[in-house]
Amino acid sequence: MNLEQVLDVNTKNIDSLINSIPNVEFEKVSHHGHRILDNWDDLLILGDNLKILKALLNNKNIYKRVNLIYIDPPFATNQSFSGSEDRTATISRSLNDEIAYHDTVIGTEYLEFLKERLILMREILSDEGSIYVHIDLKMGHYMKILMDEVFGRNRFINDITRIKCSPKNFARKGYGNIKDMILFYSKTKNYIWNEPRKKMGEEEIARLFPKVDRDGRCYTTTPLHAPGETKNGDTGKEWKGLKPPPGRHWRCSPKELTRLDGEGLIEWSQSGNPRKIIYADEARVNGKKMQDIWEFKDPPYPKYPTEKNLDMLKTIVNASSNLGDIVMDSFCGSGTTLVAAEILGKHWIGIDTSKAAIKISEVRLKKQKNVSAFTVLKEKGLKV
Ligand SMILES: C[S@@+](CC[C@H](N)C(=O)[O-])C[C@H]1O[C@@H](n2cnc3c(N)ncnc32)[C@H](O)[C@@H]1O
Repeated sequence: MNLEQVLDVNTKNIDSLINSIPNVEFEKVSHHGHRILDNWDDLLILGDNLKILKALLNNKNIYKRVNLIYIDPPFATNQSFSGSEDRTATISRSLNDEIAYHDTVIGTEYLEFLKERLILMREILSDEGSIYVHIDLKMGHYMKILMDEVFGRNRFINDITRIKCSPKNFARKGYGNIKDMILFYSKTKNYIWNEPRKKMGEEEIARLFPKVDRDGRCYTTTPLHAPGETKNGDTGKEWKGLKPPPGRHWRCSPKELTRLDGEGLIEWSQSGNPRKIIYADEARVNGKKMQDIWEFKDPPYPKYPTEKNLDMLKTIVNASSNLGDIVMDSFCGSGTTLVAAEILGKHWIGIDTSKAAIKISEVRLKKQKNVSAFTVLKEKGLKV
């Protein structure tokens, strides 16, 4: 199969894809925690996510009810990842280490592997749902095209650059690589979004809000106009004898400008130029908008190879799901997404094909304070 065929999602319609996947039955391995409010057990499932996603499509409590999916699949590195109680590593493993998982599906086969799973994930997502795909710089651009095909180019929201480690100074004929990427797509236009805000430090506040008013409040000012001319709308109209500068429009309607001025939230320069006042106390409370370059370095001593940063997952879970929603990670590894969801009061479903991953996830989740009820399942026939 060549790249064009892989990327052409219509080559396989969903029904024939689903029919081509073997059915799976589940066996219960263990149960933990207590049900609190509703009739729901979170799920940790050992097995191949393709078959498991197909089974979940037939579950009416799950089909179109998952509001957030985060995946951090293998990156086609052609390596095996191993670990033991006290260390994790790539191929250079010690004799006591066990293989955690193999990352040996590469090339177009890798893209086909992900495409089939992404199609099933899209079907499982609710109409308010969204998906974050964590991927590295080598596969990231192929994944962008694949995601455009599966979810639609118009459902692309962000390509987040994630700073993953401290600068590297290895001898390499090239720049150090300290970032990977997270592609954020939604299923429809109407997706859950709880604006994440970043706390501002006092030093930053002092730098950005250098002015002081008569009451001693620190503030700064920003332009009241933005690029782009409005031909017919309100924001192109004259206000207090002023038109927006050429090539620009007012940020809000003249009526709103009058309201802001009435509340003393506009500063007029000596030459008669109005600017919006923003107080430092507001920034202290509200923080600042989060941008698309994130610094969330991975844990220095991970319990599982490729374990991701818990605060990063908390940010994603908070932004893109509400209390009691279902969050899914179908390549869950050590369960970082599930732990974030558990801490933040969401339901969760985790799937992984590695026994080591399921074991570590189970231990991590059991340790959470007042952990809600969860069941560990496995594909029938698999040994734990
Ligand atoms: C990069 S790791 C995920 C790490 C995770 N984000 C964490 O914080 O620990 C990728 C995981 O995908 C799992 N995996 C690979 N192929 C899979 C498949 N077909 N079904 C389910 N899990 C799979 C691997 O076993 C591995 O644990």
